[in-house]
Amino acid sequence: MDIKKIIVTGRMYKDLEQIALLDNKREYTFIPEAEVSPSHFDWADGYVAFKPTESFHFARLRWVHALGAGVDSFLYNREWKKDVLLTRTVGSFGRKIGEYCLSYILADVQRHDKFQQYQTQRQWLPSQQKLLQQLNIVIFGTGTIGKEVARMLRSFGVTVYGISRSGASNCHFNRVIPITEVHSLLAQADWVINTLPLTPITEKLFGMHLFSYLHGAGFINVGRGASVDENALLEAIERGQVRRAVLDVFREEPLPAQSPMWAHPNVVITPHISAVTGLDEAMDSLLAVLGEIDSGQERISHSVDVSRGY
Ligand code: GLV
Repeated sequence: MDIKKIIVTGRMYKDLEQIALLDNKREYTFIPEAEVSPSHFDWADGYVAFKPTESFHFARLRWVHALGAGVDSFLYNREWKKDVLLTRTVGSFGRKIGEYCLSYILADVQRHDKFQQYQTQRQWLPSQQKLLQQLNIVIFGTGTIGKEVARMLRSFGVTVYGISRSGASNCHFNRVIPITEVHSLLAQADWVINTLPLTPITEKLFGMHLFSYLHGAGFINVGRGASVDENALLEAIERGQVRRAVLDVFREEPLPAQSPMWAHPNVVITPHISAVTGLDEAMDSLLAVLGEIDSGQERISHSVDVSRGY
C-alpha cells in the first residue's frame, strides 16, 4: 500500500509534527479537529487521530490510524469502508491500567477509607486486613490489556479468571472461561474488571442480569462506558450485589454534572485517565505501522479486525 498524504489531528496534532522530520517520504497536514474540512479528505490517503472528526468521510482514504487503544469511535454504529486499513496504538496501556486497578484494589483491601475516617474521629480501631492472595478477580477481556492486568495481579498472588468469547486458555490467567459460562464464577468474585472493547455484543453487557450473580464484589470499568447499564449498576449497589464501583469511562463523557454517580458514596469516578496515550507511545506506534506499510508487509501488526470491532 502506498500512503503519501496524511492528516494528523486530535489533541496531539502539534506534538506529532516531529514525525514529518523523521519521514520525508510523505506529506503531512497537522491540524486541530475543528479545522478539518471535507476537502482535506479529498486530498489525504491516511488519517491519524483519536476519533473521526465531524467532517470525516472516506473519500480517498486507504489507511486510518487510531491514537488510542479503543477503536469504537471509528467502528461502533458506523459504516466502515471495506478496503481501508484500520490500525491502533498499542503502548503500555496494559501496565497503566494494571496499576490503576491495583491502586484501588489495594486501597480497598487495606481499608484506606475506614482508617482515614477513624483518624478524623481520633479513633484507635485495629483490624486485620485480607491479603491480595486471598482474592478472586474476574477480568472481562483477555486481549493485550486484560492479559497485562492479569499478569500484574497474579504476581501478587491474586487468583485471576479471564472471560473471553472463546474461553481459550492463556498463561496469564489461572483460568479462562467463555463468556457464556461466566455466571458460575461471579458469586465468588471479589472484584470484576471490565477491559472489553465496545461492540454490539458488549453494549450494556454489565446490566441487571450479570450484576445479580455478584455477592458484594467491587467493579472496575476501564473498558467503555456504554458496556455498563448505569441505572442497573446503581441498583446493584443498592442491593449490595456490587459493593463499590470504580469507573473511568462513561456512556457520556464528560459525565454530566447531574449524574447521580458523582455524589454516590460507593462510586469512585475518574475522568478517563487509566491509560492516556503518551507522546512516545503515539510516535513509536505510528512509526512502527508506517514502517510495516513501507516494507509491504501483508499483515500489519496493530491492525484491527473491523468485522469484530477490535
Ligand atoms: C482510551 O480509552 C483509549 O482508547 O486509548
